Amino acid sequence: MDALPSLADPDALIRRVAVLIDAGRTGAARPLLAAVRRMTAPSPDLSCLSVRLAMREGRPLEALEELDAAVAGSPSEPTLRALRAELRLQMDDPAGAAADAAEAVILDPARPNAKALLGMALLGLGRAADAVACLAEAVRMTPANPFFRQGLAEACEADGDRAGAEEAIEEGIELCPGAVGLRNLAILLRVRRGDFTGAITQAEAAQRDGVVDACVLGLHGHALSSLGRHEDAAVAYREALKLGPDDVYVRHMVASSGALPSGDRAPEPYVRAVFDGYAPRFEAHLVALGYRVPGLIRAALVRHLPTATPDEAPPAVLDLGCGTGLLAAASCDLPLGPWVGVDLSTRMLAEAAAKEFYAELHEADLMAALAAEQRPWPIILAGDVFCYFGALDAPFARVHDRLLPGGLFVFSLEEREPASDGDPGQRAGWRLGRQGRYAHDTHYVETTAHSAGLEIRAIDRETLRREAGAPVPGLLVVLARPR
Ligand SMILES: C[S@@+](CC[C@H](N)C(=O)[O-])C[C@H]1O[C@@H](n2cnc3c(N)ncnc32)[C@H](O)[C@@H]1O
Repeated sequence: MDALPSLADPDALIRRVAVLIDAGRTGAARPLLAAVRRMTAPSPDLSCLSVRLAMREGRPLEALEELDAAVAGSPSEPTLRALRAELRLQMDDPAGAAADAAEAVILDPARPNAKALLGMALLGLGRAADAVACLAEAVRMTPANPFFRQGLAEACEADGDRAGAEEAIEEGIELCPGAVGLRNLAILLRVRRGDFTGAITQAEAAQRDGVVDACVLGLHGHALSSLGRHEDAAVAYREALKLGPDDVYVRHMVASSGALPSGDRAPEPYVRAVFDGYAPRFEAHLVALGYRVPGLIRAALVRHLPTATPDEAPPAVLDLGCGTGLLAAASCDLPLGPWVGVDLSTRMLAEAAAKEFYAELHEADLMAALAAEQRPWPIILAGDVFCYFGALDAPFARVHDRLLPGGLFVFSLEEREPASDGDPGQRAGWRLGRQGRYAHDTHYVETTAHSAGLEIRAIDRETLRREAGAPVPGLLVVLARPR
């Protein structure tokens, strides 16, 4: 039980409430804050506490409403502006956050966290060089703040300055050796660059120093698995699961190592985390891997599209898991459109939007989008997306309902290697592989298509890309809703 500060001392109570909120003990903070509010007149400090409590408790809209009122009452209070910038960043509103953070900097230029928030907001707006300048200033003012250093490293990386990113992290680790966020970023940056050996070195250093969380271990597992060290990866994933039993990313990777039963699809937050992190490098990386899916889908469309009469409107396309828009880019010269894309990852969608091929882009799970969609589609595509689904019966049934009679459903799958006797997915017709992706049997695709009422036009064996120098075998599937 916490000893309460003297009730006669509201300042001590306010400090206590702040400590409880920082520690995540919101249940204890709430009644104490209510007591302080009864004892003292409203003030920016109290508003800040109440807003931070709402943010901690996952009530961002209430927090924003209270902050808006507080800012209107005290427009020249930099603390309120900085807090609203932080909240807006959390709410994925970098433009609003930048406006508030800039105002906080003007009101109090000596405030490092306002400069850091401005930097993070500018980074969110794609202004990496300006972000570096603001975050470098914040780091200069408070060199041992690990969050400012993390922000600076991310901004340098986004600005193409790898050496700057490494320097920010290395100095940060020296000054704050216990900051687990910096350790995570040190490993993550190397994983993103494909430097798995460097990532393992960083992860081992973090473990030697005793600075470890589920993310350090999960990334260690990912790097080990990427180098083909699957047994070591399974150990790292199991350790990660002990520290983060509810972490969806870790659970999915542990399942993919075979140490947990696999779910029948990858969890949405897992997909988002992977692709939001991957988006800026996605296309360069896939080109390096010889990614063939957009070209294969284009060729299938050319082969299977019915010949249109000159006065017919071109068929509209629903692109499920459109990612950065590579399918539209590969087929933009065909008589198709408008293109509508659906994807879970905000950052992949931002890359697709920049290509300007899509009439509409929707941030949604493809199952939810298919359920909500009212329009019947002549063409539905899914390039390299069903590798995040094991069971295909539910997606096929939804696609069937959304296809026009005669409409085409064209997609790629990774092909499952022949199942071994002890393989738990043997009867299911699909299997979760070690890289967190599912692979499927031809027979399973055929029976599932038939059960969903879809006709098979083609199932072709194709190489989808290369990984570690070896071809990744796949299936290019064309199904149709019977007329
Ligand atoms: C490997 S990328 C392929 C992108 C694109 N189709 C291509 O071929 O370049 C997979 C994409 O599917 C998206 N995705 C995976 N599962 C999804 C789901 N359940 N709903 C919507 N999008 C999903 C990911 O966010 C990612 O952008």
